Amino acid sequence: MNAPSRESLKGVDLLSEINRLKKERNAVILAHYYQKPEIQDLADFVGDSLELSKRAAETDADVIAFCGVKFMAETAKILSPQKTVILPDLAAGCSLEDACPPGKFKAFRDAHPDHIALTYINCSAEVKALSDIIVTSSSAETILAQIPLDQKIIFGPDRHLGGYLSRKFNRDMLLWPGVCIVHEAFSETELLKLKAQYPGVPVAAHPECPPHIIDHADYVGSTSGILQFARTLTGDTLIVATEPHIIHQMEKSEPSKKFIGAPGADGNCACNICPYMALNTMEKLYLALRDLQPQITLDEEIRLAAKRSLDRMLEMASGTIGKGDLGRA
Ligand code: 13P
Ligand code: SF4
Repeated sequence: MNAPSRESLKGVDLLSEINRLKKERNAVILAHYYQKPEIQDLADFVGDSLELSKRAAETDADVIAFCGVKFMAETAKILSPQKTVILPDLAAGCSLEDACPPGKFKAFRDAHPDHIALTYINCSAEVKALSDIIVTSSSAETILAQIPLDQKIIFGPDRHLGGYLSRKFNRDMLLWPGVCIVHEAFSETELLKLKAQYPGVPVAAHPECPPHIIDHADYVGSTSGILQFARTLTGDTLIVATEPHIIHQMEKSEPSKKFIGAPGADGNCACNICPYMALNTMEKLYLALRDLQPQITLDEEIRLAAKRSLDRMLEMASGTIGKGDLGRA
């Protein structure tokens, strides 16, 4: 329904139309760092999952145009139910969400009644509703540190983030077996070749990367944490092991530094571009603002249950906004 042919929008000045509609609708445009540069550049705010959740909860706009993936737009709707939340392409999902169907998650929870569910925000509203506390990559460490050591924990759906936290905190957790297909695609062999080519150049990695990539990282953190690391870097080059669209913000902020995306399997593939994030385009954003479609709608019972676990995250994470930091590996 919201898949325009290029022909139909020929001659439309998309940028000025988006800006016009934004004012007309009293809309705010929120974008994740993995969006295309043209979308990041027109957004009112670009951030990581935690920062975007906070912005969505605080905005006084009538419409939130969310340029990210569905679980992020759902989070905005959970926190701001009175707002109209639009996502340019409803098919913008996430492999982590797909890996964790609510029915199976509920059965797993029921099988472990003495465990709490600490759940990564990259999941459906239904899974959030079945969880106790939500975390993002920039809030996970602060939150985990507040959970008593004798409390048993299920961590889902990202087994790499869960494994990273578990190793760092020396704490056993039952890990749900989901992965991010984008971070999973980095190649250790190719990364080692790149490091040999750039001796001494640091590597910054997202904790969704598997351990064989994290093991070579000088810094591990959320997208905003990696961006902050790039800003404060004393050297002039950085290898970036996360979705490469974040490099746009790094180059804007630090034009004299060189940022190199970590390679995938053949050293030169586009396998580290998130295919879900890439579904959002200027054309679809324009149509979404014009038609106020596709909209995020949620069952009220699920929304309220999901809000409880998200609110718990926002309370426990307070003070972490902007730091985006899981620290060194
Ligand atoms: P951040 O919260 O670090 O931006 O991560 C979101 C995400 O989906 C990473 O793949
Ligand atoms: Fe999901 Fe990975 Fe894309 Fe992030 S990069 S939205 S975790 S598939």
